[in-house]
Amino acid sequence: MRSIALLGSTGSIGVSTLALVREFPDQFKVAGMVAGENLRRLAAQVKEFSPARVAIKNEQDVPRLRKLLGNHQVEILWGQHGAAEVATGADIDVVLAAIVGGAGLMPTLAGVHAGKEIALANKEALVMAGEIFVAAAKAKRVRLLPVDSEHSAIFQCLQGNQREDVDKLILTASGGPFLRTPLNRLEKVTVSQALKHPNWKMGQKITIDSATMMNKGLEVIEARWEFDMAPERIEVVIHPQSVVHSMVRYQDGAIMAQLGIPDMRIPIAYALSFPHRLKGGWPPLEVTRQSELNFLPVEKRRYPALQLAYDALSTGGTLPAVLNAANEVAVAAFLGGRIGFRQVHKIIAKTMDKHAPKHAREVEEVLEVDRWARAHAGALIA
Ligand SMILES: NC(=O)c1ccc[n+]([C@@H]2O[C@H](COP(=O)([O-])OP(=O)(O)OC[C@H]3O[C@@H](n4cnc5c(N)ncnc54)[C@H](OP(=O)(O)O)[C@@H]3O)[C@@H](O)[C@H]2O)c1
Repeated sequence: MRSIALLGSTGSIGVSTLALVREFPDQFKVAGMVAGENLRRLAAQVKEFSPARVAIKNEQDVPRLRKLLGNHQVEILWGQHGAAEVATGADIDVVLAAIVGGAGLMPTLAGVHAGKEIALANKEALVMAGEIFVAAAKAKRVRLLPVDSEHSAIFQCLQGNQREDVDKLILTASGGPFLRTPLNRLEKVTVSQALKHPNWKMGQKITIDSATMMNKGLEVIEARWEFDMAPERIEVVIHPQSVVHSMVRYQDGAIMAQLGIPDMRIPIAYALSFPHRLKGGWPPLEVTRQSELNFLPVEKRRYPALQLAYDALSTGGTLPAVLNAANEVAVAAFLGGRIGFRQVHKIIAKTMDKHAPKHAREVEEVLEVDRWARAHAGALIA
């Protein structure tokens, strides 16, 4: 029985994780939950899964949550400290980090410092503070298990092979909803068009990131830290069917690929049950029903955000944290109808241009840069 602290229980990954826990009650239990503002959903989850403690984003929401819970007993905490307390509880074996954005960094890092195993969906944590995060995990001998489907695929393709034989990591990208939209129409695409991902159903922020391809950029940075791989050895290819979740090419030219249906329960289950595999309620991939698997190079003019991520990674230091923060602010502004789709990458680029990157030794320095970048991007938008 593994005891989970589920950070981001009310989100898309959180709900998929709870579906797994429901399916395998003899293997997993949820001892802690962290959510933001969706108190109704959290209250229903708490009643069903009975965690010992929960944390929510805002202190002022605590009375409302208590009311929704009626006489159900649970310790209620709040804010980043509350989330960190949930992640570090003595009864926790594994932290499933699925808060979206920079808000996930501190509670997840607290889990690392407490020596908890980390199943990581919150890629933004590694983008912001990859070096600090990985060093802390190493010092504490904490196992970092990827939940992102691409990184789970790479992790699986690395099993049983020699690290020194790896030539390249090949991340696949669907290309999002605008893969074939004429370039001159991208200026005018709407929020609802951008939210229509062709293959995956996910939270709003990552869905917009998939449309701009910043998601793949963040994943390149995530892969750099998760697999200790030089940026020039991480390649992105478009694969519109999202069946091949990613690949590893070895020095003899052989490519290992992991294929499956697009269902996040599969990589979540692998992260939680590694090295074993669970037979869950999802259907297997039937290859005979898969008429085509296509792979295309990335068109740079269509997806300028990807290059920004490579630039941030090759410069390094605090620049990836700036990229991440500006992206979060720009995506929120796009979702709120305050800027157009093609302004998202421009806000990020302008914010990056204004930053003098430095090497951050402490996470507080990263958080300071994060605050600056959010303010700067916000001012550009205003
Ligand atoms: N969805 C996918 O299929 C997928 C795949 C790969 C990787 N990921 C990664 O997994 C992470 C989560 O993605 P998602 O799609 O599940 O996002 P989502 O559906 O938007 O859910 C985000 C979760 O984070 C919580 N949250 C946000 N701000 C918070 C704060 N300040 N304090 C505490 N909780 C907070 C939300 O709570 P409320 O809703 O209650 O406010 C919600 O539970 C992201 O980093 C994403 O890149 C997702």
